[in-house]
Amino acid sequence: MSLIRKNTKNSSSSKSGNTLDGTAICEKMNFAASEAYKRLRTNILFSFADNTTCRVVGITSALRGEGKSVTAINTAYTMALNGKKVLLIDADMRIPSISKKLDLNKGNGLSNLLVGLDKVTETFQRYNCSNSDIGFDIIPAGDLPPNPAELLGSKRMSSLLNSLKQHYDYIFIDLPPICAVSDALIVSKVTDGMIVVVRQDYCRTDTLKDTVNQLEFVEANIIGFVYNGASDGSGAYGKYGKYGKNSKYSKYYSKYYGSDYKTPESYEKKESK
Ligand SMILES: Nc1ncnc2c1ncn2[C@@H]1O[C@H](COP(=O)(O)OP(=O)(O)OP(=O)(O)O)[C@@H](O)[C@H]1O
Ligand SMILES: [Mg+2]
Repeated sequence: MSLIRKNTKNSSSSKSGNTLDGTAICEKMNFAASEAYKRLRTNILFSFADNTTCRVVGITSALRGEGKSVTAINTAYTMALNGKKVLLIDADMRIPSISKKLDLNKGNGLSNLLVGLDKVTETFQRYNCSNSDIGFDIIPAGDLPPNPAELLGSKRMSSLLNSLKQHYDYIFIDLPPICAVSDALIVSKVTDGMIVVVRQDYCRTDTLKDTVNQLEFVEANIIGFVYNGASDGSGAYGKYGKYGKNSKYSKYYSKYYGSDYKTPESYEKKESK
């Protein structure tokens, strides 16, 4: 797992440190994973070397389950270890997972802020690294709204970010996947850069190309790609394992996205036609 810079041909580092298991977040990361995240941190720091104000970085992927939320959490954690003031926002208001992964209260969050029902200070939660006060702040997704895309594209979202930027060095935004909904494309407008997580043996090249095209079409600044997964081809889920057309995840996701939700399998079929 590492950040593969856009326009960089050297992808040799992309297959290092790759045995994260499902619970490998923050302190639980093994040595290889934490080294990979440190390299990712360095790449992010260098991506904005000229910039002295807070950087807002969105994290997305082509498909569901590629590791966006894990990447967002571990990147926020690793950046905080470096002494940076970090905020992590869960902007996946369809299937939020940050609170659950970090064992936080679900509580009010982004959606409540965007409809003006809460004050920012009432939604903050904090993750502290064990035995230290180093950590990062979190704004959870909040109550699930019927119209996430509208909320994320609202003026309130950009003014919220502008005011949060006064207090942080980095703001990471965990987003839904590009092929499912337009949320990430909308939010990319208010970020300084976007990271695209690509899970090995999971996302087809054409699907990824489609994702990059969509981001480029809205003039998002793609700062790089995180290559996530086991390099031996035996990823935790095997080849598309749980995500096929009739899988439980396919049904789960179509519940939230409607029948338009595309599984990796459906892309495969489309291409072979
Ligand atoms: N490198 C990895 N190796 C093994 N398991 C992983 C890896 N990265 C993530 N996972 C696991 O895969 C699952 C999906 O990860 P995560 O929730 O971060 O993906 P996501 O892209 O945010 O998914 P969603 O699109 O549903 O929000 C989680 O159970 C997570 O713990
Ligand atoms: Mg997620």
